[in-house]
Amino acid sequence: MTGAPDSEIVLTPLDEPALRRLLEAAVADADPLEVMPPVDGPPGWTPERREAFLAFHRRRSLDPDTAIETTWVVEVDGRAAGAARLQPVHGNAALAVEAGVWLCRSLRGRGIGKRVTEVLLEAARDGGAARFIASTTVANTAARRLLSGTGADLDVRGEGVDASLEL
Ligand SMILES: CC(C)(COP(=O)(O)OP(=O)(O)OC[C@H]1O[C@@H](n2cnc3c(N)ncnc32)[C@H](O)[C@@H]1OP(=O)(O)O)[C@@H](O)C(=O)NCCC(=O)NCCS
Repeated sequence: MTGAPDSEIVLTPLDEPALRRLLEAAVADADPLEVMPPVDGPPGWTPERREAFLAFHRRRSLDPDTAIETTWVVEVDGRAAGAARLQPVHGNAALAVEAGVWLCRSLRGRGIGKRVTEVLLEAARDGGAARFIASTTVANTAARRLLSGTGADLDVRGEGVDASLEL
């Protein structure tokens, strides 16, 4: 890895083999709380959390009966390095899509999140979305800067931050 400008970044649609590679990457180089909803039990990647991670993505993306979002594995120089997602949200906006991204810790802060966000914005536009939204926390400086860098309006509500960008 020579740094983001030289790195090949590819978003691969999630499928079972990609999900396995994503779990391996998460276990090796991310905290469960950064990449999935909380699961009771001792900290770290317990067998229960690994199963919950797989179940979470199968339910939300892979099972046609329950899928609510599109997920991609972020591949950096051919290796799974995180995930990106777009979830259509049917609210007041004609069609809003909610975005999310996480990257392996050792790859953060190199501009990869920015490049992934550009791809998500393009996918959202191509899909006909009128608004791009995302949520983070006040404490998450990298995510706030990533989102403000897109030109989105950021609305602080207590510890939470809601970003919204007209496409
Ligand atoms: C949020 C996340 C996806 C950002 O990706 P990244 O590759 O680290 O971010 P980039 O290197 O592209 O930087 C994006 C912006 O954040 C800034 N930034 C990155 N890391 C930072 C840090 N640790 N502290 C302060 N600013 C930081 C960059 O300078 C850049 O801002 P700029 O364009 O104004 O210079 C990544 O940090 C991550 O996976 N975090 C854990 C999961 C998470 O919080 N996801 C977001 C939920 S919405």
